[in-house]
Amino acid sequence: MPQFETAFDLSTMPPFVVRAGGKKLDGSLINLASNESPFGPSPKVLEALSKRQTQLNRYPDMGSVELRNAIADHFNLESDRIVCGNGGDTLIHGLAVAYASNGYEIMYSEFGFIMFRRAALAVNAKPVVVAEENYTFSVDNALAAVSDKTRILYIANPNNPTGTYLGSIELLRLREELPDHIILMIDDAYVEYSEGLGAPNALDLARDRNDIVVLRTFSKVYGLAALRLGWVYAPKEIAENLNRVRLPFTINGMAQAAGVAALEDTNHTDMVLSHTHSWLPKLSDKLNGLGLEPLPSVGNFVTVRFPSPKKSAKMAQAYLESHNIIPRTAADYGMPEFLRISVGLEEENLALISTLEDFLDS
Ligand SMILES: Cc1ncc(COP(=O)(O)O)c(C=O)c1O
Repeated sequence: MPQFETAFDLSTMPPFVVRAGGKKLDGSLINLASNESPFGPSPKVLEALSKRQTQLNRYPDMGSVELRNAIADHFNLESDRIVCGNGGDTLIHGLAVAYASNGYEIMYSEFGFIMFRRAALAVNAKPVVVAEENYTFSVDNALAAVSDKTRILYIANPNNPTGTYLGSIELLRLREELPDHIILMIDDAYVEYSEGLGAPNALDLARDRNDIVVLRTFSKVYGLAALRLGWVYAPKEIAENLNRVRLPFTINGMAQAAGVAALEDTNHTDMVLSHTHSWLPKLSDKLNGLGLEPLPSVGNFVTVRFPSPKKSAKMAQAYLESHNIIPRTAADYGMPEFLRISVGLEEENLALISTLEDFLDS
């Protein structure tokens, strides 16, 4: 048998967490595991997709020009600083490929989004984990961990799975006090939800600066997780390098068409946001009332601690799953006492609460 050695050590790469043990996530399950929109996409997106499906034999536009122009118009940005990707994850990865491969350091916080660690390990960079304070990113701890080898600092704001965020003053202090050679990527995957709740929109910080990379996704409020579409707003030179390392046709044609249509339908996104903003505090209050400890989230999810070992997060997860409700464990984040629960449709949220009540009474 030949021995196929990897080019560098991949053995510490965390395994993917398979929701509900790989059960098929069809309509019979209440899936609250992945912070998706329970409403799906706008009807305008479905219309755009049905038109685009007549061209499935054609390669997509390699440069995603129409989509980038639509994003630039919508957010008042320069289109040549936008790079699209097959989901935001691929752009987190691409930045690591271009700037930190082979021995450089990538920093992220203790409970930071799992892709940051994965990206570092996948390119043979050294992960540098910064301790959080109260489940929140600490600027001082990050600054103290900087070295000459640090190339990238990733911060999700608000963060998944904690749902906490840094305000604009702290974020800007982080950028100002970080050495110039370090790229700051602010991952704004949940910003549509959090903006109304006081968190900064990093595009407002990045628009006139040349030292911040902002990540956005169509997977959350736009309800397009299955199509895989994300984008970054970056300084021109970084945008060019991200384009050099990405695969040419990675943003498929259906996703490009859907993205343009999704941006147009602001009524749809307003509806999703107003539902989420009404349910997030209700869910947190209910969980609190049950003696559980929700973190103060501003995303479309709440991460909740089960303080009693007799009624642990793991037991709650098993109980919910046996009732066809799928939460997300936070154990792989080093938070085994917590479950992360997405805001669902009204009837899904009610089912979650009553099933948790039954679990805690059982
Ligand atoms: C913080 C954060 N960033 C980025 C993403 C990636 O989104 P996608 O690859 O679906 O665009 C997610 C998805 O859950 C996320 O939680």
